Amino acid sequence: MLRTVTCGALTIKNLGESVVLCGWVQKSRDLGGMTFIDIRDRYGITQLVFNTDDNSELCEKARSLGREFVIKASGTVVERSNKNPKMATGDVEIKITALEILNPAKLPPFLIDDETDGGDELRMKYRYLDLRRSPVRNNLILRHKMAQSVRRYLDGLDFIEVETPVLIKSTPEGARDFVVPSRMNEGQFYALPQSPQTFKQLLMVSGFDRYFQIVKCFRDEDLRADRQPEFTQIDCEMSFIEQEDILNTFEGLIRTLFKEVRHYDLPEVPRMQYADAMRFYGSDKPDTRFDMQFFELTGWVKGKGFPVFDNAELVVGINAKGCAHYTRKQLDALTDFVKRQQIGATGLIYMRHNDDGTLKSSVDKFYNEEELRVWSAGFETEPGDLVLVMAGSKDKVRKQLSELRLEMGNQLGLRDKNTFSALWVLDFPLLEWDEETERYHAMHHPFTSPKPEDIKLLDTKPGEVRANAYDMVVNGIEIGGGSIRIHDRTLQALMFKHLGFSKEEAQKQFGFLMDAFEFGAPPHGGIAFGFDRLTSIFAGLDSIRDVIAFPKNNSGRDVMIDSPSTIDDKQLKELSIRVQL
Ligand code: AMO
Repeated sequence: MLRTVTCGALTIKNLGESVVLCGWVQKSRDLGGMTFIDIRDRYGITQLVFNTDDNSELCEKARSLGREFVIKASGTVVERSNKNPKMATGDVEIKITALEILNPAKLPPFLIDDETDGGDELRMKYRYLDLRRSPVRNNLILRHKMAQSVRRYLDGLDFIEVETPVLIKSTPEGARDFVVPSRMNEGQFYALPQSPQTFKQLLMVSGFDRYFQIVKCFRDEDLRADRQPEFTQIDCEMSFIEQEDILNTFEGLIRTLFKEVRHYDLPEVPRMQYADAMRFYGSDKPDTRFDMQFFELTGWVKGKGFPVFDNAELVVGINAKGCAHYTRKQLDALTDFVKRQQIGATGLIYMRHNDDGTLKSSVDKFYNEEELRVWSAGFETEPGDLVLVMAGSKDKVRKQLSELRLEMGNQLGLRDKNTFSALWVLDFPLLEWDEETERYHAMHHPFTSPKPEDIKLLDTKPGEVRANAYDMVVNGIEIGGGSIRIHDRTLQALMFKHLGFSKEEAQKQFGFLMDAFEFGAPPHGGIAFGFDRLTSIFAGLDSIRDVIAFPKNNSGRDVMIDSPSTIDDKQLKELSIRVQL
């Protein structure tokens, strides 16, 4: 080893020891007779001291060091006269007797420090430099710890880690596939897996019983803060289980992770029906760190001459506790918020429950105080509260009010990043209507089983069939989802029929799975967690980008290696691809 200790190790206990350190120059200070260099590695920062009186040549060399030079320094641990309690090594410094420049460095394009002056794009272009900064590095260390904890937990329960292929077959369900041309099979393409779903089910048919994999998945979808085109799942599957077993096993996994890695006691995870999540929070991934549940006013407010309510399918609101003092300006800002294009509401109605007990609404013309008492009772308002109401078609207005609820949660400081609230959302609809293609799509995926008692509705009311499907939500983010699977050929074929596949198409796309179901498929089910999302929640970040070593930017590009890129004509020819732009 070139070094005897790391830059984060030395304390007062090491006084007098001879040590050799290697690392990067964080900063240097030249105080005339003395030169101080902070040397940094993954483990920390240590102060090196050079004294002209002791060795002027060495001191001169120290002065020549630039930021980010890679150096090797030898010396003795001494006590600092000016201690720095903020640093783990802040009680000591190293009196240097030898200094070697292992590699000089160009001036970095941004400051390598906890707070940097580099913008997003610049930091992405020089991601390897950004990764030297401790906040980014710590996220990856956190990720590593979480991965180890996941493996320990699942291994302890006899799960076996199996790798599934990355070059697979394109299927029409789900998001868009990334495809890879096959040179050996002219005109044909592999697809990169959106998830190992069918493979993990086949492993159950093989009798593996309990499978997991921390695995890369690829989806060609629009990017958002919590979406990357390649991302990682903790993918799991079990045989001979019921939904209850999956919920218990994986609630255990998440609680263990919180305990071991985040030192947080996550309480037992409550459960909520999908239909209730939509009714009370307008979302299938409610942020349950705060209450502020919806209350529906529809039946109470119609027929009083207020057209917005009279024409609405749903009139629904929330009680923003303690916000009655909001000024006209603040209320206008909230109205602007819901009218933004991304939310698309037409307006916002409010009612103040004043400190003197009186009720005052923005629709006083239509509703007298007695009628407003009904609102007040429904929302359980107290003096000082503000009720915010929206109206419109059911699905839209729920979504819009859900956004407003989150905004009020932010304004009221109810969404603390160090508080965690998890929730199971159960019994999702099996199918969802897609306006664009005018057909039903599997809400989760086509392998999810319907609730046995709802199968009879498949022909008559497909939209009402519930699935044996569940999501786990933490702080309003969907961190995982799964289902109990179909394991018999007839039911799987029926599902494909309802999804608009002809018999031939279903056989061509998924025949391998349906065939496997005829060779002794056990009842099985599973779940996959979004590992990046889970890590970003643990790290207290809004975006998953900074828990990924080399992420893509918002246009799906890796600006560091400049990808995607064109390929040369020879390669194209070999792949039998003609490009027309
Ligand atoms: P699903 O599609 O719900 O289920 O994905 C599981 C979890 O993966 C995460 N996730 C993503 N994370 C980052 N970027 C993305 N683009 C992205 N897409 C999804 C989410 C999500 O909850 N095979 C099924 C699982 C199963 O049924 O067992 C599946 O992939 O956190």
